[in-house]
Order: sequence, then structure tokens, then C-alpha cells
Amino acid sequence: MAIKKGALNTQDFEVSQFVRLRDFIYMKTGIFFEEKKLYLVKKRVNEHMSLLEMADFDTYYRFLKFRDDGTEFQRLINLLTTNETYFFREFDQLAVFAEECLYEVCARKEEAGIKRLRIWSAGCSTGEEPYTLAIILLEMIDDIDDWDVKIEATDIDTKVLERARHGVYGKRSVRLVPEEYFQKYFKTVSGNYRIDDRVRSIVRFSHLNLMDERKMRSIKGVDFIFCRNVLIYFDERSRKEVVARFYDAMNPGGYIFLGHSESLSRITTAFNVKKINSFIVYQKPLTAEKSGR
Ligand SMILES: C[S@@+](CC[C@H](N)C(=O)[O-])C[C@H]1O[C@@H](n2cnc3c(N)ncnc32)[C@H](O)[C@@H]1O
Repeated sequence: MAIKKGALNTQDFEVSQFVRLRDFIYMKTGIFFEEKKLYLVKKRVNEHMSLLEMADFDTYYRFLKFRDDGTEFQRLINLLTTNETYFFREFDQLAVFAEECLYEVCARKEEAGIKRLRIWSAGCSTGEEPYTLAIILLEMIDDIDDWDVKIEATDIDTKVLERARHGVYGKRSVRLVPEEYFQKYFKTVSGNYRIDDRVRSIVRFSHLNLMDERKMRSIKGVDFIFCRNVLIYFDERSRKEVVARFYDAMNPGGYIFLGHSESLSRITTAFNVKKINSFIVYQKPLTAEKSGR
């Protein structure tokens, strides 16, 4: 028997080709795949190319770059994003939001006679984060019916947005929901869990690429931004760009929450850094120029 050397090698494209694709994706989305991700990207793109019956990588890349109307690029992004999320992720950080920051912002707004609250879940994935925030608002704001409250939930991945709008989750997603809230805000439907309509009505999902400067500049008057576990996939330059747009989108005194391994320390000094119960939160200075309400 002769052993065929290299027969197990499914590598259809080389490192230099990976770099071209990686740079193209980076330019459009800010997502930066390091070379250690080569295998993952290659595996997913190879499978996808064979489904499309593309002859080879160069044909695919040329199509993507010159002939695609955006549909194929969207499919590619849907394949390559990391969408891991669950309800009540980082519970202690959410407690800081609910008990300290939300209270402070609502009290200030109420005093100013502005009962309007805008929260942005930027990189919301399948919806667990914005729905968690909606549950917190329903629990924390006694007179919520007197407030104009909305959570804008955005993501670049159209597939996850579809699932988020559907609002039905498996066991894994809901495993950390406190029992009381679970009983109150979820219904069991054929072995899965459907989020309550009252929670849904507070959240609005839409497609947004954080690197789309024009769309990003149109967002104003946000009191809280949750952008957790998203910027880790970006490089420093695109992080800086996105955070500058966040700053412009926020009301003075608004807060931004990042994932536990993320920080603004090397990105900007524009926010005040506060440590609350061992969590770092970033607040836009109250004295900052208003950029809408
Ligand atoms: C790991 S999930 C985080 C979900 C949630 N924020 C959490 O912490 O549980 C990261 C999400 O960021 C989204 N994302 C990545 N790059 C993006 C971009 N350029 N614009 C918008 N969303 C992006 C991905 O599609 C993915 O759903």
C-alpha cells in the first residue's frame, strides 16, 4: 500500500490568499483575523466555496471583490462572526448598571423633565443582551410606562438578527436567568423558551456595521452603550474609530459598558473612568458638548 502524502490536506488556499481575504474583510468591517485564525477561516470559506461550486479561491475572491452586490459578502460575514452570548452575561456588571448607573441617569433626566431613555446594544448577536437589558429596565423603573424607553440592538450579521427577532431560545441561553425573571418573562414552547412580548416591545433590532461611518454618525442621543465582546475582534485602529463614533452618539453623562477583557485605556481619554464595585465603567463627561438628546 502506498501512502498518499498530503491527501488529507484540504487546504484550498494559501497564506497569501488568506491575507488578501483577511484584509478585504478588515477594511469593510474592522474585524481582524490574526494568522492563528487561518485554519478556522479556511475551513469555513472552503466549505462555503464548494457549496457555491466556485472553482478555486481566486475565482471566489474576484467575484467577491468585483461582481458581488453585497449579498455574498454578507453571507461570508454571517459565516465568520463569533456570536457567543447568553442572558444575564456578566451578572455583577449588569448589577452595577441597574443599581448605580441607571439610577443616576434616570434621576438626572427626570429632574431635567426628560423622561426618555435610549440604550444601544452594539453587536447584540442573537438578542440575549438587549432582552436582558429590557428585563432589567422593567424590573428597575417603577413608572416605566411614563417613560419613552427604547433599546436599539444592532449587529452586522443578518442571520443572528433573524434569530433575535424570533426571540426563542434553548436551555443554554437561559441557564443564568434568575428563577423569578425566568418565570415572569419566558414561556416554554416545544422545549424552548420564548421571550415575553412586553420585553420584546422595548427592543428594536437592525442591521448595522460598526465601521459604516455614515450610519454611525447618524446615531444620537444615546444614554447607555453596551458593546461587550465585540471590540476584541477589531484591531486598535478600528477600535479607535468605533469608540469615537460612540462618543459622538452619546448624551453627556451617558455610560459605556465593555466586555470583561476589553478596555478603553489605550483607545481614548475622552471618557471619565469610574470604578464601581470593582467594575470599570466609562462615562461621557457631563460637561461635554451636547450632541443631541
Ligand atoms: C461575541 S458576540 C457578543 C454578543 C453580546 N454583546 C455579548 O456580549 O454577549 C459579538 C457580535 O459582534 C458582532 N460584530 C462583529 N463585528 C461587527 C461589526 N463590524 N459591526 C457590527 N457588529 C459586529 C458579531 O456579528 C457578533 O454577533
